[in-house]
Order: sequence, then structure tokens, then C-alpha cells
Amino acid sequence: MTAEFTADWLALREPADAEARNRPLVAMLLERVRAPLVVHDLGSGTGANRRWLDPALPKPQQWVLHEQEPDLVARAERSDADVRVGDFMMLRPEDLLGASLVTASAVLDILTKPQLERLTHTIAAAAVPALFVLTVSGRVQLTPSHPLDSAVSDAFNRHQHRNGRCGPDAVAVVAQAFRAVGYQVHLAPSPWRLGPHHRELTEQWLRGWCAAAAEEDPHLELDDYVRSRLDDCVAGRLRVVVHHNDLLALPGNRP
Ligand SMILES: C[S@@+](CC[C@H](N)C(=O)[O-])C[C@H]1O[C@@H](n2cnc3c(N)ncnc32)[C@H](O)[C@@H]1O
Repeated sequence: MTAEFTADWLALREPADAEARNRPLVAMLLERVRAPLVVHDLGSGTGANRRWLDPALPKPQQWVLHEQEPDLVARAERSDADVRVGDFMMLRPEDLLGASLVTASAVLDILTKPQLERLTHTIAAAAVPALFVLTVSGRVQLTPSHPLDSAVSDAFNRHQHRNGRCGPDAVAVVAQAFRAVGYQVHLAPSPWRLGPHHRELTEQWLRGWCAAAAEEDPHLELDDYVRSRLDDCVAGRLRVVVHHNDLLALPGNRP
């Protein structure tokens, strides 16, 4: 079986993710954490979340990277992390004893509702703050518009729910689960704003977006659409906003 996320794709999206991330949420987090920090990064891939958060957080920091794909986590440049190759769904509250923060980037939408609720309960049982960033919201805006945009977007969003995944509903599920156990939840937008200087990322994103839509709805005839959108992209005419949400959950007084 091939990995769903390649190192090349994660590297291509990393600068757009870095630009998109919501800084005011991190400022709120900073009011609640004190160094030394122990940070657990779930689905760390090659370590992009750490590369962004490390300079924003007080030091010293100890990072624990949880990743099921050994080839990806082997590319996390720094060797000072505690790397745990495996399924982060196996985490228990006692594994988070002493943790200052649980974080994840671009991960929530690939989980099912039971998985998200279980993860939330594990984190809440350890009373640890959580920062989950760059979860797709399901909203995409392309400029100039094309008559097929909304059909492709709808099919893509249905594809995001395959095998019970929460897709664009993930943030709402996690927010509700944290609120139910007395956490304060803060949500904020973190959109990719792709223009002529993101040509390669836009092209790859477009191909993946359309391929998923076509897989979901084989009646969609997308060859001409893909060709015309790629032409727009290469000519520097296309702007795409891919909406995401960031979520900060802080332990509060339990009811
Ligand atoms: C979209 S990638 C994001 C990677 C990284 N956080 C980033 O922002 O570049 C999602 C990552 O989560 C990992 N992953 C998904 N489910 C997992 C699980 N249950 N346990 C461990 N890793 C998981 C995948 O292997 C993949 O590396």
C-alpha cells in the first residue's frame, strides 16, 4: 500500500500552511503555557508543525512526534525529538502525563467521529491544551469562476467523508467534544491564499481536488475543466482560496 501523503506533497504545502496559520490563536495559547514545554505532535509527517511552532513557543521544549509512516518521520531534520512510530489513536491519558500541549497540523479531517471523540477524551482526561491547525472547512473559492466549480467542490467534499472520515465536519465535532468536557474552544480561519507565486502547489492541489471529485462522481466529465483550470494556473490568471480552520482548546473549570 502506498502512503496517502508523500514527503514531496508535504514539502510543497509547507510554505502555504505557514502563511495561513492563525497567529492570534497562538498568542492565546502563549498565555496558558509555561516553559519547560513538552509538546506532542500527532501525525507529524516530516515535522512541519514543529518547524513553525518551535520559534513561536518558549524554550526549553521537548517534542514528541507521533507518526505512522516511518519514512516521513525519518525526514524530520532534527534528531532531538522523541519519535514514536505508530498509531496515535493508541495514546492513553497516562501517555500525556506532564505534557504541556497536544498539537496536530492537517490531520483532523482524515479521522472518523469516534476517533475524534476518543482523542478529545484522551487529551481532556490529561487536562492538556490542544492546538489543531489547518483542518479543511470544505469551502473553496476560485477566481475567475467556472460553471463546474461548485459541482467539483461538492463531489470533493463528499469524497472527504469516505470510509467514515469527518472531512470538513471535523472541527465542529472536536469543538463540541471539548466543550462537553468543560474546555474553552477558540476557532479561527487559516485559509491558503494561492496566486501566481504558488503555481506548483496550485497545480498539484487542482489535480488532486479534481481527481478526488471524479472518483466520487464518475459522471462528472472533468477533462476539459482540468485542462482549462491548469491553463489559467500556468498563465497566472487563477486565484484560489482554500479555507481551513484552526482550533485552540484550553482546559477550563470542569462543570
Ligand atoms: C496531511 S499529513 C500532515 C503531516 C504534518 N502534520 C504536516 O502538517 O505536514 C497527515 C499525517 O498524519 C499521519 N497520520 C494519520 N493518521 C495517523 C495515525 N492514526 N497515527 C499516526 N499518524 C497518522 C499520516 O501518516 C500523515 O503523515
